[in-house]
Amino acid sequence: MYSEKVMEHFANPRNVGEIPDANAVGQVGNAKCGDIMKMYMKIEDNVIKDVKFKTFGCGAAIATSSMATEMVKGKTVDEALKLTNKAVMEALDGLPKEKIHCSVLAEEAIQSAINDYRRRNGEDVPEDKEYTCEH
Ligand code: FES
Repeated sequence: MYSEKVMEHFANPRNVGEIPDANAVGQVGNAKCGDIMKMYMKIEDNVIKDVKFKTFGCGAAIATSSMATEMVKGKTVDEALKLTNKAVMEALDGLPKEKIHCSVLAEEAIQSAINDYRRRNGEDVPEDKEYTCEH
C-alpha cells in the first residue's frame, strides 16, 4: 500500500520534536480523524534555519511531515509557502488515494507556522483557515 520512501520516513522520521526558542509555531488539526500536526520553526532573515514537528496522526501524516520539513529547511519563507502537498507526495513516490488528505495537513502546518511568524512581525495575515477533510 505504501511506497518504500513513505515506510522509511514513517519508521525514521526526520526533524521530530520541538524548538524551544522557535519564532514560528503552527498547528493544524483534523476534526474528523482527530489527528494533529504541530510545526516549530526558527526563522532568521526570512530563512528557515531549523524546523521540527510533532504529529499525532497516522503513518502517512508522519511521513509527509517528515518529508515536508526536509523540503523547507534552508528555504526562504516565500519558497516554503509554495510547497504543495502534491510536491511532498511526489517526493515520497506517491500516497494511496485515501491518504492524500493526510499530506494536506503537512502543507497547511507549514503555512500555519509561517503565518504565525508574519503576525509576530506585524504583518496583517488573516486567521488560518479551518482544515476540513472528507474522510
Ligand atoms: Fe488523519 Fe491521516 S491525517 S488519517
